[in-house]
Amino acid sequence: MVQNVAPLMPDLEAEDFYLLSGVEQGMRFSEWVQREKIPKFSRLTIENVDYRLDRCLDRGLLERKTIQYEGYKLTFEGYDALALHTFAERDTIQGFGSSLGVGKESDVFEVQSYKPLALKYHREGFTNFREVMKERDYTSDRDHVSWLYTARKAAEREYERLESLFPDVSVPRPIDQNRHAIVMEKMEGVELSRAKLESEQVVGVLDLVVREMATAYREGYVHADMSEYNVFVSESGVTVFDWPQAVPTDHDNAAEFLERDLRNIVGYFRRKYPQEVPDVDVPSVADAIAAGEFDSVREHAD
Ligand SMILES: Nc1ncnc2c1ncn2[C@@H]1O[C@H](COP(=O)(O)OP(=O)(O)O)[C@@H](O)[C@H]1O
Ligand SMILES: [Mg+2]
Repeated sequence: MVQNVAPLMPDLEAEDFYLLSGVEQGMRFSEWVQREKIPKFSRLTIENVDYRLDRCLDRGLLERKTIQYEGYKLTFEGYDALALHTFAERDTIQGFGSSLGVGKESDVFEVQSYKPLALKYHREGFTNFREVMKERDYTSDRDHVSWLYTARKAAEREYERLESLFPDVSVPRPIDQNRHAIVMEKMEGVELSRAKLESEQVVGVLDLVVREMATAYREGYVHADMSEYNVFVSESGVTVFDWPQAVPTDHDNAAEFLERDLRNIVGYFRRKYPQEVPDVDVPSVADAIAAGEFDSVREHAD
């Protein structure tokens, strides 16, 4: 479990962030950054580096190793602090709130701005990385797989997709992105998995979800991770979120992903609402989406 770094922020000084960003730069070249290299990367004197290394270690923002050489690396908390600091400096956010969700590969928090927003820290690569660590002796820098890189790439991808899809597709409005984090509008409503729909609403809501998929397709993307956990339902409609793995419609496997997404969503509705949802011919829905002709699942009922 990654700790929420927001409560630490008031204590941190400008030069603590120089230090953290110095270690971050060093991590582009190796997993552990040698103590002696940190003054150059952070533009701090070695005395100041030592002082700040201790401060950041105490707060769990860095990890130290002493075998072979004295080296440091950012923890996820250290990387979170850097992103949070950047958002605060840009005035993207002015306050930090409570957790909105812990996903498979993310932590999401409410943050304050002119209105409540959501901040998503990507954690891709972190868990895998731990797996890798278990499997082999991780000393060679050539094998250096940086979770910083994987998580940042995922955040950049998700932000790009949100920017292409918003507002034609009902996705959270993208606000800002830095490192492995994105800030977006906070969604209203509840996860589809927790929604209790009235009988007469069920097929209508399924149609809304599939129409968003159809519009996303028209805009050039297949979500590729559609499920009842990545859709919010509210009085005002549905919102589809969690887009980092979305693929362009010209991707080799786009058709396969589209069908799988549809099977997940239709399958969920069929299981939860067997009385209301007809058996749907999924390949024919996929064809209709690809042809830009989808209207309602009823037209594809067996
Ligand atoms: N913009 C948002 N507004 C409100 N809650 C959100 C928002 N984005 C994510 N969440 C909450 O955080 C959880 C995890 O986010 P998600 O994007 O699905 O990440 P993961 O890839 O880890 O599944 C979601 O299930 C949802 O409950
Ligand atoms: Mg999700």
